[in-house]
Order: sequence, then structure tokens, then C-alpha cells
Amino acid sequence: MKVSVIGTGYVGLVTGVCLSEIGNEVICVDKVKEKINILKDGNCPIYEPSLENFIKNNISRGRLSFTNNISEAVKKSDIIFISVGTPSLPNGQADLSFVEQVAMEIGKFIDDGKIVVNKSTVPIGSGDWVSMIISESIDNNNPKKKVNFDVVSNPEFLREGSAVEDTFFPERIIIGSSSKNAIDKMLELYKPLIEQSFNWPDDKARPISKSQKVPVVITDLTSAEMIKYASNSFLATKISFINEIANICEKVGADVKAVAKGMGLDKRIGPLFLNAGIGWGGSCFPKDVSALTYIASEYGMTPQILNAVINVNKEQRLKIVKKVQDEIKIVKGKTIAVLGISFKPNTDDTREAPSVSIMNSLSKLGAKIKTYDPIVKERPDSLTEKVKICRDEYDTVKDADILILATEWGKFAELDFNRVKQLMNSHIIIDGRNLFDRDHLKSLGFRYIGIGR
Ligand code: UGA
Repeated sequence: MKVSVIGTGYVGLVTGVCLSEIGNEVICVDKVKEKINILKDGNCPIYEPSLENFIKNNISRGRLSFTNNISEAVKKSDIIFISVGTPSLPNGQADLSFVEQVAMEIGKFIDDGKIVVNKSTVPIGSGDWVSMIISESIDNNNPKKKVNFDVVSNPEFLREGSAVEDTFFPERIIIGSSSKNAIDKMLELYKPLIEQSFNWPDDKARPISKSQKVPVVITDLTSAEMIKYASNSFLATKISFINEIANICEKVGADVKAVAKGMGLDKRIGPLFLNAGIGWGGSCFPKDVSALTYIASEYGMTPQILNAVINVNKEQRLKIVKKVQDEIKIVKGKTIAVLGISFKPNTDDTREAPSVSIMNSLSKLGAKIKTYDPIVKERPDSLTEKVKICRDEYDTVKDADILILATEWGKFAELDFNRVKQLMNSHIIIDGRNLFDRDHLKSLGFRYIGIGR
């Protein structure tokens, strides 16, 4: 099928590239010229494992192209995905201005029978609103033109760092629309994914077997939009819940890792997203939980669970600062090493990263902060300039009075702790992700402080 994807952020780029891999002709559109030039050269502007290979392969097969020209993309495509950002406004509301601009542009060039798919995470009811903006744009630009088009909500569930695999091996596909024609076209587009019939490199493991079909939920636009918000909010709730349990564990002398294991074996609870730590961040959970809270407030509701989920998460970051103060008392003038800047491993994304709030707070208290991340090499704008970015782990811990693990990159678990001990000024480790081998560190003479244990 002929597809265009407007917006080449995480979601748009991964979606476009994967749709080309399963045999479609895909045009990815972005207004940022530099980004399109990078992509045209076969390079990937974001750090996402294996994405660049798929970009290169599909450009050379002639199935994937990149442009700044939205009119050309809309005219040539049967299905047009909107995948632009919906960042949070200061009041928590989702900013829909990018979606609105794109819908107006689509209206200028759309023809009969085309399908517009909303992949951006948009507030409940936005599907109908997008449809209205497109219709108004058609009327304003071509008053005599009669165009039948459909709008579909097709939320994504990709995780940064494993976005490519999440696209090829989804746990479910959600299609929200009132149009039978649009639903049928979406089912045709996703057939290779639903039936798992696409080719997958032999050297890469398949997370689900070829014989397994991917479940599809067909519903109305509004319910599809709600599925996205409810899913992210539930996952954030699970994390805030286990973080609250971790805080109680610390008081009563229980180990949250054992507690999570014992809970997770119950199928009704499940083992995933029960890792206690310094809280959730990234570009999705903070934005989506706030947006759902805002939507509820528009209907006169006070969403008590969602508000608590947000508050527990804010406090969880501050708890690390408190732990540092408990250990070294006067923070001013002390050297603090922080390992990990990205909001989670396998991504270079630092949006709403807990590490950043923790470093900013400690820096305000007068600490000298040194940090290192395997992928993030530039200081994020949100991080105070006073923080020194180091070249490796050992350079970071040199002369440190305390070491904080902020992001659980796998390579940090393999540090040579004998060397770390020699380099540090005093031997205190706060393991913000419960990554390290506690007994090993204790046997080497470190004071180990985890989360909830
Ligand atoms: C999240 C969802 O997992 C995806 O399904 C969704 O598509 C995506 O948002 C989105 O809306 O675009 P992502 O933000 O990439 O994906 O990251 P997650 O892996 O979900 O992690 C989110 C945060 O929770 C991270 O800060 C992570 O460190 C934290 N986390 C996760 C924990 O603290 N404990 C856990 O057990 C799991």
C-alpha cells in the first residue's frame, strides 16, 4: 500500500520504517530540513537499536523515502499517518497545535477515499476534531470539492530502546473507527504483522512465534484514544505503587525485590513494571498521565489515583536527595558521582529523566556533580551547567564522596568495583535502580543503599 507518515519523531520514524520493511511504499515527512537530510543519507537522527539498518535497507529497495513536502506525500498516499508531538502545556493539557497544523495541511491536498490515521497521543475526542479541521481546510481551500475521507485512531505502544521489535511483535493492535472501509484497509495494512508472516532476520530471535496471531481490538475512535491513555497511566500506577511499597519496605525491614517477585508470580498482577527505583520519566508517562488528569478535570472530576501516582513519582526523586543528606550530612562542597543520564537504558532521551532532577537538586545544595552516560554525551538543556560530564565511569567516580546509580545501563553492573573503591574518596553507593549485587559490594567494604531494601 502507499503510506505517508507525517512527523519523524520516535513513533513516526519507527512506524514508517517498519511499514516499509513489510512491503509498503512509505514517504516520511518532517518540516525540519536537517533531519530529512540525515535520513535521506540513510542515517538515523535518534539512538534506537537496529533502526538505522532498516532505514538503509528500505531506501535501497526503493520503498522508503523522506521529504519536507507534505503535499506530495498526501497526494501519493492511500493512508496518511499523523505522528507529530503532543507535548504538555504548563497546566498538564496536551498541546495539539502540531496536530492541528498537520490536519490543515492534509485538508489542502486530500482526495476521495483516503484514510487519515492518528498515531499521535491525543486527548479523548480528538479524532472527531481532526476530522473537522480537515473538512474545514477542504472547504477553505477548495470550496466546491467534495471529499470523502475517514479518520482512524491507531495508538502505539512502542517503548524507546525496543521500538523496532515492539512494532514488529506488538501485543495488540488497536483500530478505532466508525468506518468499515477504513477498518478493512487498516487490517490489510497490518496483515503481515497480525499474521506474523513478514521475514525476520535469522540471526535475531522472534519474541513471538510465527504461528501466533496478534490480537486486534476494533472499536470506536474515543475508546481507542482512551486505551492509550489508560494503558500508560496504568503502567505508571504500577511503578508508583511498587515505589510506595518500597518506601514502606525500608521502614519495616523488608526487601522490595523479593516482595515484587512474590507478587509478580500471581498472573493477575504479573512481574513486569514492578522494579522499584527513582521513579518514571521519559516523554510519555509524565505527559500522558498529566493529560488524562487534565481531561478528567475538564469533566469536573478529581482523579484521585492519577494524582497520587504523579505525587508519589515526584517525591521518589527527592527521596534520593534525602538519602544523600542522611549519609553525608553536609552536601555543600562534597563530590557526587552520578552514573546514567538518560531516563532509562538503551535510549539517548533525557526528557523528564529522574537523573536530571536529582543532579539539579544536589547541585543547588552545593554539591560538585560528575556524571557519565554510555550514550548521552552532551549536557541536556534541563541540566545545570555546573554538572561535569565525564568520559567514562572511572573518571566519574574519582574522588567521589558518594556514588548514585541513576540509570540501569547493563554495563554499569559489570564495573570493576575494586577499582571504583580505590578511586572513590569514601565508599558509599546509592543504587537508585537496585541493579548492583548488594552482597558483593558489601563484601568489598562498600556501604550499599538500595531502594526499598
Ligand atoms: C512507554 C510505554 O511503555 C509504551 O508502551 C508507550 O508506547 C510509550 O510509553 C509511549 O507512550 O510512547 P517508554 O516511555 O519508552 O514507553 O518507557 P518505559 O519502558 O515504559 O519506561 C518508562 C519509565 O518507567 C522509565 O523512566 C523507566 O525507568 C520507568 N520504569 C519502568 C520503572 O521505574 N520501573 C519499572 O519497573 C519499569
